[in-house]
Amino acid sequence: MALALTALHGIIFVAILTSFACLNYPGLAIGDAGVTVHVEREYVVLDNGIVQLTLSKPGGSITGVKYHGVDNVMEAMEKEDRRGYWDLVWNPSDRDSGMFQKVYGTEFDVVQQDANQVEVSFRTKWEPSHLGKLVPLNIDKRFVMLRGSSGFYTYAIYEHLQGWPDFNLGETRVAFKLRKDKFQYMAIADKRQRIMPMPDDRSDGRSETLGYPEAVRLTDPINAALRGEVDDKYQHSSENKDSLVHGWISSDPSVGFWLITPSNEFKAGGPLKQDLTSHVGPTTLAMFVSSHYSGVDTVPKFRNGEYWKKVFGPVFIYLNSASEKSAPKLLWEDAKKQMQVEVEKWPYEFPGSEDFHKSEQRGSVSGRLLVQDKYISKEYINENSAFVGLASPGEAGSWQRESKGYQFWVRADVNGNFFVKNVRTGVYNLYAWVPGFIGDYKSSINITVTSGNHINLGILVYNPPRDGPTLWEIGIPDRSAAEFFVPDPDPKYINRLYVNHSDRFRQYGLWDRYADLYPDGDLIYTIGVSDYRKDWFYAQVTRKDGQGSEQATTWQIRFRLDSVHPNGTYKLRVALAAAHLSELQVRFNNPRVQPADFTTKLIGRDNSIARQGIHGLYWLFSIDVDSSWLLEGDNVIFLTQTRCQSPFRGVMYDYIRMEAPAGTVASTDAVAE
Ligand SMILES: *[C@@H]1O[C@H](CO)[C@@H](O)[C@H](O)[C@H]1NC(C)=O
Ligand SMILES: *[C@@H]1O[C@H](CO)[C@@H](O)[C@H](O)[C@H]1NC(C)=O
Ligand SMILES: *[C@@H]1O[C@H](CO)[C@@H](O)[C@H](O)[C@H]1NC(C)=O
Repeated sequence: MALALTALHGIIFVAILTSFACLNYPGLAIGDAGVTVHVEREYVVLDNGIVQLTLSKPGGSITGVKYHGVDNVMEAMEKEDRRGYWDLVWNPSDRDSGMFQKVYGTEFDVVQQDANQVEVSFRTKWEPSHLGKLVPLNIDKRFVMLRGSSGFYTYAIYEHLQGWPDFNLGETRVAFKLRKDKFQYMAIADKRQRIMPMPDDRSDGRSETLGYPEAVRLTDPINAALRGEVDDKYQHSSENKDSLVHGWISSDPSVGFWLITPSNEFKAGGPLKQDLTSHVGPTTLAMFVSSHYSGVDTVPKFRNGEYWKKVFGPVFIYLNSASEKSAPKLLWEDAKKQMQVEVEKWPYEFPGSEDFHKSEQRGSVSGRLLVQDKYISKEYINENSAFVGLASPGEAGSWQRESKGYQFWVRADVNGNFFVKNVRTGVYNLYAWVPGFIGDYKSSINITVTSGNHINLGILVYNPPRDGPTLWEIGIPDRSAAEFFVPDPDPKYINRLYVNHSDRFRQYGLWDRYADLYPDGDLIYTIGVSDYRKDWFYAQVTRKDGQGSEQATTWQIRFRLDSVHPNGTYKLRVALAAAHLSELQVRFNNPRVQPADFTTKLIGRDNSIARQGIHGLYWLFSIDVDSSWLLEGDNVIFLTQTRCQSPFRGVMYDYIRMEAPAGTVASTDAVAE
């Protein structure tokens, strides 16, 4: 026994020793120097003995980051204002085309300076002479460095004063361009990391542009092992909830550069909104507002001179290093640990701006959300870990388009209990959606969160849309098309990272595989025979007609009814996971009836097909089906996507369900033979 214990201790000891030997803890190694700030004529330099950050003055661009013997991890070949910067895209409300603007400060201040913390501010103030030229916002960009911290923070306060011009904020973000000779390995998740192409590989002589400029096929890359692969920054997008840490690794020296987003409270569109992360450049982004995978619906629009103020960030730029060469796994694991540390520190105590609310200024909300669906169970159902969140008052589901305010989301536990902590003061609705069920929950009351107060909402019950028993269903209601058939990519258009991967939808050109799989006619799905995992294509896309133009497609769902209730209204629930400039028309048993029995009309601008996503915004259509449209015996539902001006138009289904009339009992043999 004693011997066994000793041996065990020996193993643990060696393991600890190894991990310390490989990973450098700069704060321990170099000693605990305080933070200093040097204000020069054109630069401001923040230094804590671990990281040295150089910012232009008064513009506030990141011109240099010195770390672990690397003089500058930022791309020094780029101009000083193209290495690390805040930027935005905006348009006056009466103009459509967006204008790109880098956010340059015109005034500079040291906000706080002591041995523990330095915070600097770069401000720009709007004035009427900027009308039509600069975004009508006051912007205060901040950078913070803490003692003993291997990195720095940045955040910004955007303010639109009452009466100022109306405008749309199409995009805003922080961008970092790293040294291309050092940073060649990108990591955005455990199973999403690889050696990346060089930026030069995307140039004309080394690649061919595919269906849109972002996607190229590497024909002569500098690293010959990547020849033939597709590169497209959108393949590396993530949902906000999965995008808390991502970045780049240099192998010599072993250095990691990481963007850590400790909270999504300030991001547009809630936890499922997808956006860019890191991509060839080497580029790392902190995206706050964009129309990616959502369209203009998530773009904040300011009208009637409304007042608005919002804090974006802080985000943490973390640097780490290892003593041995090529240690990507070690650096990635350490970056994930640091992400956890930052998440636990949220909301940060250090920001100097009063606009960033500290923990004691915030409130909290708890409760228990139960699901009631009497056609599934007489009991409450609660094992599905609902997504529960607070966002600005609106319709049920409005959170996925909301972008002016803050959102606070958690997952409920398996019993439906949720606790949302650190909520900024304000008026909210409580929203939720539950994997496995259609539709959106919204609290009937407005919830006013005040400083230091806790609100217990008690038991809340969500009754998902449901009129009668299920006759049949296709897919899983989870706001994604991932469970359907996602084809292998054309061998010409592969990104090897996503081959045999749980995210196999992140490949270029999958939309064109539809016509390969269904050359002679469109998809026909037979209830009781077909399997949605194999027989339901992940997106209803267009079909090329051979002359280079696109054709509409009509899918069929075939099913049998032993009898039709003559007086009843049946219900068809069509949940879409994405839609791009599409119109879905639904017809029952007559493919030519005009007008169609149901149409969504023109919907969606999420561009999720071209962007290689598996969902965009969520749509739910509940269609009344008159019993006279149905037949005893064989029935066919025709689903036509009519708008086919481009191969990227189409819809993704989340889930489809046919319900018998209320109060009836579903016939168990309502399936085809
Ligand atoms: C909830 O708040 C919104 C916006 O503040 C307001 O328009 C709405 O009338 C309020 N609803 C209720 C039920 O108080
Ligand atoms: C694909 O992934 C599965 C499960 O992860 C694995 O068992 C299989 O060997 C992989 N196939 C290829 C071709 O890599
Ligand atoms: C349908 O309605 C008619 C008139 O209301 C009634 O006589 C008949 O029994 C109903 N049929 C069924 C199947 O409910």
